[in-house]
Amino acid sequence: MAGPKRGLFSGLSGLFSFGGGNAAVGLSIGSSSIKLVELQRSGKSWKLLHFGTVQLTEDVIVNHEIINQLAVNESIKTLINQLRLKSKNVCISLSGTAVIIKRMSMDIPNTKDLQDQIFWEAEQYLPFDASEVVMDFQILSRSKEGRTDILLVAVKKSILEVYMSCVEAAGLVPKFVDVDFFALQNVFEANYPSNPSEAVALVDIGASSTKLVISHAGIPVFTKESLIGGTNLTTEIQRQLNLSFTDAESLKIGGVGGGLPQEVSDLMHIMSENFAGEIKKSIDFYNASSSGAPVSYILLAGGSSKIPGLPKVVEDHAGLPTQVLNPFNSITFDPAIFTNEYVAAIGPVAAVPIGLALRAGSS
Ligand SMILES: Nc1ncnc2c1ncn2[C@@H]1O[C@H](COP(=O)(O)OP(=O)(O)OP(=O)(O)O)[C@@H](O)[C@H]1O
Ligand SMILES: [Mg+2]
Repeated sequence: MAGPKRGLFSGLSGLFSFGGGNAAVGLSIGSSSIKLVELQRSGKSWKLLHFGTVQLTEDVIVNHEIINQLAVNESIKTLINQLRLKSKNVCISLSGTAVIIKRMSMDIPNTKDLQDQIFWEAEQYLPFDASEVVMDFQILSRSKEGRTDILLVAVKKSILEVYMSCVEAAGLVPKFVDVDFFALQNVFEANYPSNPSEAVALVDIGASSTKLVISHAGIPVFTKESLIGGTNLTTEIQRQLNLSFTDAESLKIGGVGGGLPQEVSDLMHIMSENFAGEIKKSIDFYNASSSGAPVSYILLAGGSSKIPGLPKVVEDHAGLPTQVLNPFNSITFDPAIFTNEYVAAIGPVAAVPIGLALRAGSS
């Protein structure tokens, strides 16, 4: 497979264009499940065409690396067979240690060979050899004197290539690669008004990690991934109630008769406090170290944002209004196909894949 070139991260620079008509597909390969969203342009806005998800067992993706390529490949094929996609061109995303995001300020007097200068300078920030990564950047601002503020993204090539080949082997075309942070920012921008005097913390609480991005004036000014997620809660339930992982998981998400045993409710509360503590720590760090607008509210996404009572615990800990992000504030859907209940239920897990689909559709 040819190595992706600059511009593949159109999440940053939007260089690629493709012939997908007016449909756009986002594919999020998460550690607990694969989620696929197809949107269709409807006038100036977007409409939900398809949403599908396939669960993965715990050993398929570990530390955001695909361990079992066949299982990922088969799961994507299952989704494709279920959903009759209009477009095969997809935007995928990466997260975890394979991704490095750095804000840099550099003196670049002339714009000629800007890319080479940035990449050359960026190499010193990378924990890997430059030959092992694919890089992209976005210029955030540039003064008359040539002082340039840059957002650099680098991803480990070997990990990216496995993602790309799994997607390709399933018959899709990975035209765009993004990162979960930017997908979150994207879905936020499409659904919430922007206020230049405030920053907002967007938090995706998945199965294996929590991704937090602070967005201000359309720029991801702070990003942090913490290795805490819903799987921690499941394994605690599993341990304390002496259950299999699968039974603990179904108990957690209300699959067993709906009611939750007291031990599970207690563990959920403890875990919610852990998530809240982690979120508060990141926001405090940002507020203390940045001269930008302070964070004025928090929006939660990801499957674990469905833990009952979590938004209130986060709100109390962080002292900031907290809600679950609703990607369907502006994205419409056909009520003859999707009920309000269904759309409300998928909202948190659909947030990142919708952000990816919006990116795919923005070219
Ligand atoms: N109703 C619910 N209550 C509590 N937790 C839930 C609920 N629904 C899903 N979850 C949890 O959400 C997690 C899955 O969320 P999500 O699909 O966002 O993660 P992922 O994308 O697979 O993981 P990651 O982003 O960490 O790689 C699982 O841990 C799951 O148990
Ligand atoms: Mg995820």
